[in-house]
Amino acid sequence: MIGFDLTEEQVALQDMAHKFAANEIRPKAAEHDHAGTFPMEIFRKAFDLGLMTGFIPEALGGLGLGSLDACLIEEELAWGCAGIATSMTCNGLALTPILIAGTEDQKKEFVAPFAREFRYASFCLTEPGAGSDAGGIATTAKKDGDVYLLNGRKCFITNGTHASQYTVFASTDRSKGHKGLSVFVVPRSFPGVSPGKKEDKMGQRASDTSDVLFEDVRVPASNLLGKEGEGFKIAMKTLDFARPSVASMSVGVARAAFELAMQYSKERVQFGAPIAMNQAIHFLLADMAMDIEAARLLTLKSAWLLDQGRRSTKESSFAKAFAADLAMRVTTDAVQIFGGYGYMKDYPVEKLMRDAKLLQIYEGTSQIQRLVIAKEIMMR
Ligand code: CAA
Repeated sequence: MIGFDLTEEQVALQDMAHKFAANEIRPKAAEHDHAGTFPMEIFRKAFDLGLMTGFIPEALGGLGLGSLDACLIEEELAWGCAGIATSMTCNGLALTPILIAGTEDQKKEFVAPFAREFRYASFCLTEPGAGSDAGGIATTAKKDGDVYLLNGRKCFITNGTHASQYTVFASTDRSKGHKGLSVFVVPRSFPGVSPGKKEDKMGQRASDTSDVLFEDVRVPASNLLGKEGEGFKIAMKTLDFARPSVASMSVGVARAAFELAMQYSKERVQFGAPIAMNQAIHFLLADMAMDIEAARLLTLKSAWLLDQGRRSTKESSFAKAFAADLAMRVTTDAVQIFGGYGYMKDYPVEKLMRDAKLLQIYEGTSQIQRLVIAKEIMMR
């Protein structure tokens, strides 16, 4: 049986997230984009409404929502502003490795506080020399009695300067390549942990992105998640959960651009009639509407698989690649429909185009998604 109707609870969640995006995020999005500032007051309100704790199981004090519920919410938040949505949902990415591989005690210690208090965690995988090649991590964690000595530099870390806790991937045995990677929970309060410079980005400028440095950080062995050597697979499983989330944000950005372009095409008069009267515009708008719907369906299917406890590696990459590429296409076409005005910062579509670019890059580029898909369809 296939059903496409949402439950009453899901409609209510979607509605709540939409109102939050319309009333709290959109009015401030341009200002924070322009200044590159982190809208703390918006995040606090989102936390109070439960918009930052949905993924945390009820037993740990969260709302215990599924991946599909999260996607419905994230589409709306990104419709408001992708940068704000990225920072608002980043705790989910950072804490998922603990939910996947942590013991009950670790979940209580390192996840439950995020349901009780407004705070941030960051997912520290990427390094200057290990982006797409996540297995090539140079950060090391050397066992020294009952602690690990952690040394390395992570880059492009979302919420890096604001996080109180980091989920850090490091090599415990460099001779083993990806099989030598392990993952640790590292509170920021540990000596030797320091956020580095904040990046000045093209888009998603309200989101915080920075380096995080680890210098001789003494991490207790009890902060290791799973066993030594399991880090790479934990990272990959986490990304299976995170990619539908980026896909739903891509749908939200594309939908925002589509709505603005359609409205503008009805208002903009050239050659004595609204430009919406031209077939050239019809075709652009029809393609946008069709592709947005296709991207949403791929996204919700991948999230639904995860909610069934099934592997969604291929479907998560389908959704992420299709939706991120679509967001880039739709936002570019929206700028085209706005013409010269679309290129100006006084109009909202150029921001959407800048924001969309990052969706094709973070959490695995569009090319890496195709690599994952090819492996899944040809080799597994
Ligand atoms: N689930 C479980 N296991 C998995 C898996 C998955 N989804 N994917 C791979 N594995 C396992 C494989 O079965 C294999 O196991 P064995 O060693 O036992 O055979 C092992 O992991 C290695 O797999 P591959 O051979 O496929 O690994 P690879 O090195 O060839 O390729 C890759 C891996 C797909 C390219 C991967 O490195 C990747 O996804 N890279 C992109 C990284 C990425 O997305 N980075 C984004 C960082 S997060 C971010 O952007 C956040 C932010 O703050 C904005």
